[in-house]
Order: sequence, then C-alpha cells, then structure tokens
Amino acid sequence: MTQAQLHQLLRSQLKENDPKVLFDLRLATNVSLIQQLFFSLYPEQTHQLHFEKLLKLLPKLFASRPEALKKQDLRRLKAGNWYQSEQMVGMQLYVEHFNKDLKGLQEKIPYFKELGINFIHIMPITTRPKGENDGGYAVNSYHEVDKRYGTKKDLLALTAEFRKQGIFLMLDFVVNHTSNEFPWAKKAVQGDKKYQGYYYIYEDDTIPLEFEKNLPEVFPETSPGNFTYVPKMEKWVMTVFNSYQWDLNYTNPEVFLEMLTNLVKLADMGVDVVRFDALAFLWKKMGTISQNLPEAHDLISLFRMCLQVVAPGTILLAEAIVAPTDIIKYFGEGPTKGNECEMAYNASLMALLWNSIATKKTSLLYKSWGHVPPKPKDCTWINYIRCHDDIGLGYENHLIQELGWNPSQHRKFLLDYYCQRLDWSPATGRLFMYNPKTGDGRITGSAASLLGLEKGLSQKNDSLIDRSISKIIMMHGIILAFGGIPLIYAGDEIATLNDYSFQNDPSKKDDSRWLNRPLQDWETISKLENNQLPSSKVFYELRRLIAIRKENPVFADLNDVALYHTGNEHILVFERTNKKEGLLMICNFDESPQVMETSWVKKLGYFAQGDPKDLVSDSKIKVNSGLLEVMPYQIIWLKKN
Ligand code: GLC
Repeated sequence: MTQAQLHQLLRSQLKENDPKVLFDLRLATNVSLIQQLFFSLYPEQTHQLHFEKLLKLLPKLFASRPEALKKQDLRRLKAGNWYQSEQMVGMQLYVEHFNKDLKGLQEKIPYFKELGINFIHIMPITTRPKGENDGGYAVNSYHEVDKRYGTKKDLLALTAEFRKQGIFLMLDFVVNHTSNEFPWAKKAVQGDKKYQGYYYIYEDDTIPLEFEKNLPEVFPETSPGNFTYVPKMEKWVMTVFNSYQWDLNYTNPEVFLEMLTNLVKLADMGVDVVRFDALAFLWKKMGTISQNLPEAHDLISLFRMCLQVVAPGTILLAEAIVAPTDIIKYFGEGPTKGNECEMAYNASLMALLWNSIATKKTSLLYKSWGHVPPKPKDCTWINYIRCHDDIGLGYENHLIQELGWNPSQHRKFLLDYYCQRLDWSPATGRLFMYNPKTGDGRITGSAASLLGLEKGLSQKNDSLIDRSISKIIMMHGIILAFGGIPLIYAGDEIATLNDYSFQNDPSKKDDSRWLNRPLQDWETISKLENNQLPSSKVFYELRRLIAIRKENPVFADLNDVALYHTGNEHILVFERTNKKEGLLMICNFDESPQVMETSWVKKLGYFAQGDPKDLVSDSKIKVNSGLLEVMPYQIIWLKKN
C-alpha cells in the first residue's frame, strides 16, 4: 500500500474534517519514511539539525497553504486517483505562442472545452535571462511571473478559473538547475561562500576533468562539456545543460530545504501537477554518468513524501527521458514503490511509435514494451507523440540486434528518414544535436510535418496528404487509448506544420527544437467549418475520439494494458479492460491494407454477441474467412459487448 493510499484510507475512516488534524495525521504517517530518506542522503551524525529544521518547516508550509486548496486536498483524498480517469485529456502549450499572455489563455477556455481538454501543461512562465534561456528552463526565479505573460495576479486568476471549470493545471518545477542570473548564482559570483555551496563550484578544472571522464553531453553542439568557467568568480561551475544553467548541489541539505519551500509555494498557486524537470540528473557522483542514481530517487521520494504531507492534492510528473527500464523506476521501487512520482512521460512509447512509422513495422515496439516492467497500480503515464522537445532514439541496442538489425545503422536510417536525407521519405524534420563523434542525433519537427503533411501540401499530392492525415489521427488514437493521460501538443490538433521563423532569431537559431514550437494558428481555427481542410479533418476527428474516450470508462488507467501479437508485423494491438468491459485497439502502420487472424479475438469474447462494434467508425466490423482487414493507418477501437 502506498503512502497516498494510507492517507486516503485514514481520511475515510476518521470522518475528520479539520485540515490541521489531518495534516498532523499525514505527518505522523510519513515521518519515518521521510526520516529514512533524509538520513540516507544526509547522514544523521552530521545532519541531525537539518532534519529538525525540516520537521519545523513542514507545519509552517502547511500553515501558509491557501484555505481553498486545503479543502480541495481533502476532497481529492476522498475521490482517490483522479489522474487515472478516462475524463483526463491534456494539452501542452506555450502561453505566448498560444494566445499572447495568461489573460489571453484564460479567454480560450471555451476552445479547450470544445475539444474536450481538461488538463493543461503551461510551459515555463517565470522570469528568465534575456536572450538565450532554453525556452524559460533557465529560471531567474521560481514564482515571479515574467512580464511578457502578465502578473502573478493573472496566474492566480487563471488557476482559480481552471478550478471552477474543472481544468487541471501542470507547471514546471525546474528542480535540477537555476539560471546564472538567479539570486543564489549572483551571490555565488560575488564570492558568497554560502551560495557557492548551493552549486557544484570548483577552484580549478581538476575535479571537472575527472567528472567529464564519465559524463555524457546533453547539448553537444551548442553547449559541449558539463562545466563552465566563470571569469568573474575565477571558478568552474557544473552546467550539464547549457552554460547558463547551473546545476544545484543537492548534497547540501540547505538546497533541499529551500527547494522544498519553492516546490510547496508553486503548489500553493493552484498547480495540480508539478512537472519535475530533468529529474534524472538530480544527484551527481564522480565516476558515474550521474543520471538515474539511487540517491536521485531517494531525493525525489523525499520531496514527494513532504509535499504529500503539506499538499496531498498536488502530484508529481517525472520528466525522465531515459531508457524504458529506467523510466519506470521514477514511480518508486522497493520501500518507495508508488511513493515517488504518480506520473511519468511515456517517452518509450513515443519513440517506439515514431520508429514504427518509419519502419512501417511494430516489431521493435512489441519487443521493447515486453521488457518494460509493470508500473505500480496507482501510477499513470502521460502518453504523447510530440512535445516542445526533440525525439530521442532511446531504444535498447540489444533489442534492435535481436530483430537482426544493426543498432547504429538503424538509428542512422531513422535520422535519414525523418531529417530529409531520403528523397522518398514523406517526413520533413531536422537533425538536432547531431554528434559526429558518436553518430548520435535526435529529431525535431511538428507531428504533421514528420508525418508527411508538409511535403504533401507543397507537392499538391492528395494521396500523400490523405495518408498523413490518417497517420496523425492514428497516432493520436493510440495515445488516447493507451492507459494514462493523452497529452496533445498545442497545434497538433489542427495539423500545424513546422515553423521556420526561429532561423531569423539569434537567440533561437541554433536550437532547432523551435521548429516545433509554433504560434497557435487562430486564423485556421476560425475556418475549421470548411471541413475539407486537413486541419478541419484532424480537429473534428480528434474531438470525436476524445468524446468517445470520455464516454467509455474502459479507457481509465487501471494498469491493464495488454499487448497482443497478431502474427502481422505491421499491426499493433493492445487490449484495455476493467471489471465489466474490454476494448481492443487495432491499427496498421503500413501503407497497404493488412489482414489479421481473429480466432484469438473470438476467444477473448469479442464476438459473444455477434460482430463487435468499432467505436471509431461507429459500425460493426466485418470478418471474412476469419480475417480482419485493416486499412493503411486505420485505427479500430473494438468494444467487447
Ligand atoms: C527538460 C525540458 C527541456 C530543457 C531541459 C533543461 O528536458 O523539456 O526543454 O531543455 O529540461 O531544463
């Protein structure tokens, strides 16, 4: 039983409604785990006082939590796992690209309602350096809203309105690093020893060079290496991402205590899900790659256990774009199973879907998913096909080899396919962070452009256009049906193409991720009634699929996804079940029709009441001689009667 379940149980048994009494109870329930995690990171012999400081901090943080949110916390404890519901459908957006600022965003609530969106991830909105700032992921503060978005008052108005309208909000917590303009960094540069201890700062490059022996590079093209020399300080500082993003030193418990306060303050603004940015990097140890270390997991769980005591209605999303077997660990393992993050990006599924599009085969997807250990039952995925970042090719080499493919040649093929190095490929993406030393690279581009719409439109090739529309719908149909919250990247719902304007902006031109960070095209949205446009076709079909998801509780995540092999390497099938219902998701990644044998589907009981219905086409499926035909890029949601 997870700590969250314990809190739910105690709350239901006690019939107690005083938030403070329930806070004390949660603290008592979590304190031994908190203590254990704390002392595993900060040994008791030297850090007894820090632990006492933490115990004093928690009630203080609770006291300043707004009353409305305390009440909401208790309602959520009663309601259970709201984040696993079939009603959850998300969208990720940049405020300034969506509709100017926070007020503009609030005006667009009817748009979300029309599409069926009730969960929104707003990209960073806090103050950041002028010029390069990694899209706001270099933070100058954790709570001050940058002027371009409006004010803190606007943010609070927005979160209050979202609450009223039943919309959940996710905001980033850039937990691994601050910008070099953050007050702590500024003080460190001025020579303040206390704040120098908040970062990994070294007198000379001896230790940095030792670290470098094992550390990979995140941005090898634009920010090679993991350390930056700061002349004003005459010292080296660890900067794993960009040179202006300083890594926080969590071996110092003061950093943890300050960041916990920052986290709770974020939750106090009405944030429902906190996106723990780049959390795989939180703990550094010489001689290791300093990613996914056990101490990082203890630290995240420690944050979680404390936040759960103070603000149990707020949950955490792991942004760990790492190997599938490593992602799953962010849900917690062993004593912290289910006590780390409630949600994680399903980066594995995302990358495997793009592999299936390029190869037209699902074999690597089946093989890889078969190796992903089951997640704890109270945790859920964020399923997505595109986001503001690149697509990394994080497949396991040995699984590629088992298919008889050469891993490096296979990756090269994918880069060639998506990044315009093959004439016949419909995709118009770009290479990102290509590392000639290793041949590694990643892919950028919008979903529609990567799926062929841009090429189809420029060549006025109707069949290419139609095929790309089917692909866009199929890819979204998969993430809508897979257990978890589907997160649509703003613009994809109207098939937005690549945005090349970043090339003229000096602060963006070296980062091709801006290709897939377009302005929301309200002009196109105003013309959606013309249902012959590709944008209209995608929008209306997605809206329909979202509505179907919401009408069918079988889409709720009960940790029930089961993949079925069909014997046809172009087809993907998984089943979703609850106590009463079943649903088979079937789709075809090939550009020719494919057939699938159905005797095993009968055995699962889908034909018990005659031919079953496909919810997508809203008609009964036809099976000839025991074979089901699946058209190119068709998606079928077969409902068990
Ligand atoms: C996350 C963000 C990415 C950013 C990085 C560093 O991976 O998604 O955009 O560059 O963190 O903060």
